[in-house]
Amino acid sequence: MKVLVAGGAGYIGSVVTAALVQADHEAVVLDDLSTGHRDAVPDGVSFVESSLSDVSKVLTRDAGFDAVIHLAAKSLVGESEQRPELYWRENVGGAMDLLDAMRAADVRRIVFSSSSATYGNPEVVPIEEDARTEPTSVYGATKLTIDHMLTGEARVHGLAAVSLRYFNAAGAAYGLGERHATETHLIPIALQVVTGAREKLSVYGTDYPTPDGTCIRDYIHVADLAAAHLLTLEVVQPGEHRIYNLGSGSGYSVRDVVAAVREVTGHPVPVEDGPRRPGDPAKLVASSARIAQDVGWAARHGLTDMVSDAYEVLTARLLN
Ligand code: UFG
Repeated sequence: MKVLVAGGAGYIGSVVTAALVQADHEAVVLDDLSTGHRDAVPDGVSFVESSLSDVSKVLTRDAGFDAVIHLAAKSLVGESEQRPELYWRENVGGAMDLLDAMRAADVRRIVFSSSSATYGNPEVVPIEEDARTEPTSVYGATKLTIDHMLTGEARVHGLAAVSLRYFNAAGAAYGLGERHATETHLIPIALQVVTGAREKLSVYGTDYPTPDGTCIRDYIHVADLAAAHLLTLEVVQPGEHRIYNLGSGSGYSVRDVVAAVREVTGHPVPVEDGPRRPGDPAKLVASSARIAQDVGWAARHGLTDMVSDAYEVLTARLLN
């Protein structure tokens, strides 16, 4: 297939692009490089520096695209609470531009990067796809809005659409890892402590109703995420909007993750117990039973793989 990867210079997008290339698809990356990196786009892949407002210039009828994988978004929960207008404009406005261009060019297949943030504070864990969706952040609300847009687009215009609700993406693949200007995620921050870029890690809250008092999350390897994009892209049918959670089904606390980082790297990770980070739910764990049943996907990599793969790519980058 010829696939436009919107946001293909970002962390997850670049790994998805590399996986497409490896599976002999033709990928074209569109990214405005606001948070992505040009050098994360695999060699030999066409790259267009553009925002989604100009996507119709690339996604033309003549260009012969079969599908779109849409990962271009603002993705920081905290920032979305401070600049909601930016998130609505970029995420929802960008998706509207993309869907308009797809309709005009008759490109009828999309896999969209949705989020566990669409659920908010779950009533029941593990979280299934028909759980209540009450996002607690603007970021989550924008992702849920786009999911609703895709439902309508599939029903009314016959789009073949998939929303993949990632839980906590982690790890690295194809030499590509997380590289955010402002790092907020737990594993990269712990690794910054290991490499000396940071003195210590703050544990955000130790009084949650969990066994060790810290938050529990479901970490999922970016290579497993990429595999889910490729699988679902192939099987979704016109008029369908499929929604799938992507997680490992196992929950790890902040202290579990820190212990894994110590074990994998052999370095101490000094921590400081701090207050809760506003908006963090105590426990988020996915049920990925639906995608397992429908397309046979399951997470293949555990927490140790995620930490060691991220560490390997980070140290390689620091040496270069
Ligand atoms: N944490 C710390 N210290 C840190 C960083 C994080 O204790 O320095 C804790 C957080 O409180 C949280 C856990 O580590 O309990 C994981 O935090 P991340 O920031 O790595 O990830 P989140 O669970 O907050 O965010 C993830 C995705 C988002 C998504 C969100 C939905 O990265 O894109 O889940 O809830 F929106």
